[in-house]
Amino acid sequence: MQAAQTYPSHNVEHIPYHVAIIMDGNGRWANIRKLNRTEGHQKGAKAIPSIVKAFGKRGVKMLTLFGFSTENWGRPKSEIDAIFGLAKDFIDEHLEELHQADVKLNHLGSTEKLPYWLKKRVQHAVQKTSNNSAMTLNIAFNYGGRADIISAIKQLIEEEIATNEITERSISNRLATAGLPDPDLLIRTGGENRLSNFLVWEATYTEYYFTETLWPDFGPSDIEKAITEYGKRQRRFGLVAD
Ligand code: FPP
Repeated sequence: MQAAQTYPSHNVEHIPYHVAIIMDGNGRWANIRKLNRTEGHQKGAKAIPSIVKAFGKRGVKMLTLFGFSTENWGRPKSEIDAIFGLAKDFIDEHLEELHQADVKLNHLGSTEKLPYWLKKRVQHAVQKTSNNSAMTLNIAFNYGGRADIISAIKQLIEEEIATNEITERSISNRLATAGLPDPDLLIRTGGENRLSNFLVWEATYTEYYFTETLWPDFGPSDIEKAITEYGKRQRRFGLVAD
């Protein structure tokens, strides 16, 4: 009989199964160079394909990137439009290559308020890659952890689920991340040490790694440092050490 897969087993090889990243620091990267913030986002978006490849090569099976939060709607319209345009370009330029590499694309968050042309592309990318299995790339776009929990609670109420059936599992099953394993490692670039409403339910027992490196500069040596640091951590999941 095959043993059930448990989270601590991911750490046996010291390689996280699921890595989540808050790609912070695009604006500061641009400011330092006297460029506008959009150019920072451009550089940040350009970095994504090689980062996906590099994590894949290190044996990471799932990557979740925070591309646009529910709070980011408060930014200037020109910046929001630029980020939407970059997400569109990312799909147009890299979907085929990701598909050939057997990468499955998922979208976390709501497409409701996204422009039609972006919504259509996101749906197409998710549908086209739905049977791929070498690696999963989740893009959190118009995503907020608290909004996601509120949406799960609304679903439970609409489905008239009895209070004694409200469990961690029944809530998890109604989140955008339903069916996905929790992140093992969460990386935040850009020197800020906070979660900013990313995966608030899912990252309860995740290992956090904060780096000063600004997202557009994040590269192979940062990936190695993060994975090495993860390998040194002892994950106890609220239990006592062996
Ligand atoms: C945080 O940096 C970054 C964002 C809010 C946007 C990230 C978006 C991309 C990398 C492009 C989107 C593309 C895809 C494919 C999802 P910041 O602007 O908060 O930087 P700062 O803290 O230095 O100001």
